[in-house]
Amino acid sequence: MDDNSKLRELRAVLDTYRGIPGSLITVLQKAQGIYGYLPQDVLGLVAAELDIPPARVFGVATFYTQFRFRPVGKYFIELCKGTACHVNGADTIARTITETLGIADGETTADGLFSLKCVACLGCCSLSPVMMVNGETYGSLTPAKVRDILSQKRKEAQDNA
Ligand code: FES
Repeated sequence: MDDNSKLRELRAVLDTYRGIPGSLITVLQKAQGIYGYLPQDVLGLVAAELDIPPARVFGVATFYTQFRFRPVGKYFIELCKGTACHVNGADTIARTITETLGIADGETTADGLFSLKCVACLGCCSLSPVMMVNGETYGSLTPAKVRDILSQKRKEAQDNA
């Protein structure tokens, strides 16, 4: 989606929620859905359009860990570090991702393909250890399985290039 389409989509969201009390978090979630993260100018526009002080918008956005302020890679990996996943080897999975992609928690690969974020329980503990890639769940992970998934994603990106 180009910048103009994104802005049009954001304006439609703002039009829908303008004047509805308590809608700031929903608007921020939708804005992040459009942009992949929350750029500064988007936060400014949300504040202006919803008539909320910019400091409050920024305060709410930074309070919740679900919001991101930097662009993420084409594949956004959320690795669960909750208790069940921790007990079942999440650290080994994290090491495998780091060794395979050369990125640690919070980082993006130089080619912009992958970002890694360690998160709390993803709500599917029976599948632990678990990660999500762009919202799709991968469970019962092993280092070999993770390497396979990552190389599949890389191939998918090359095929679509
Ligand atoms: S602890 Fe990982 S999904 Fe619940």
